[in-house]
Amino acid sequence: MAKNKILIAGNWKMNKTGAEAKALCAEIVAGLAGQDKVDVTVCPTFTALESAASALAGSKVVLGAQNVYVKADGAYTGEISTGMLLAAGCKAVILGHSERRQYFGETDAFINEKALVAVKAGLTPIVCVGETLAEREAGKTLEVVTTQVTGTLKGMTADDAKNLVVAYEPVWAIGTGKVATPAMAQEVHAAIRALLVKQFGAAGNGVRILYGGSMKPDNASELLDQPDIDGGLIGGASLKAKSFLELVTIAQSKGISGHHCCCCR
Ligand code: 13P
Repeated sequence: MAKNKILIAGNWKMNKTGAEAKALCAEIVAGLAGQDKVDVTVCPTFTALESAASALAGSKVVLGAQNVYVKADGAYTGEISTGMLLAAGCKAVILGHSERRQYFGETDAFINEKALVAVKAGLTPIVCVGETLAEREAGKTLEVVTTQVTGTLKGMTADDAKNLVVAYEPVWAIGTGKVATPAMAQEVHAAIRALLVKQFGAAGNGVRILYGGSMKPDNASELLDQPDIDGGLIGGASLKAKSFLELVTIAQSKGISGHHCCCCR
């Protein structure tokens, strides 16, 4: 059974001004020239979206944001709507990143609201889940991830699932240099896959499940070899064109050029 087409997505977090984003996007576009075996997404900060969009114009690199609010417009100081993201050139949005859960109190229910609003608007939600170190050590990884997946995807249909990405990011592996072993990651990805198939039927096989947490050129290959790891959500290594492009090259070497839909598996 062929895997889904690999997606390498960069989460730039709170890094890069508009000018810096433009320069990095230009380097990425130049470095990717001609490749179409791997899908590539970059997610700059809100203030850098438009300049990133201009540098990505005409390329296949997808622009994503790192968050969105659920209302269309109005008195919500500091927030950004799906319409604003679309107008800025976005096609995707990261939702429920552990940093948003940890520092901004985002809950599964709130992330679920955002995910439903995003798919309705035609944005691809990249919904993040993952356990803390304490939860892993308490043997609760699968329980925590199950609660997060079912809570954040509640009410989504098989049709919505065609435009959905899930990212498994063990919190203890984010920015720490501690990467989950391929077997550890695959165990959780397989559990997420089972939940997706339970909810969406065959369409659940077509949902790409990314691994995130210290993924780097020196550990990506083995992770990407796992049957239910369909790509990476990359933090630190996405901030430099060299390491990000190296990750894309590694993904390309897997020789998977399938379309990311259930009919091609
Ligand atoms: P690092 O790759 O820096 O560990 O970050 C992963 C991440 O949080 C991506 O969303």
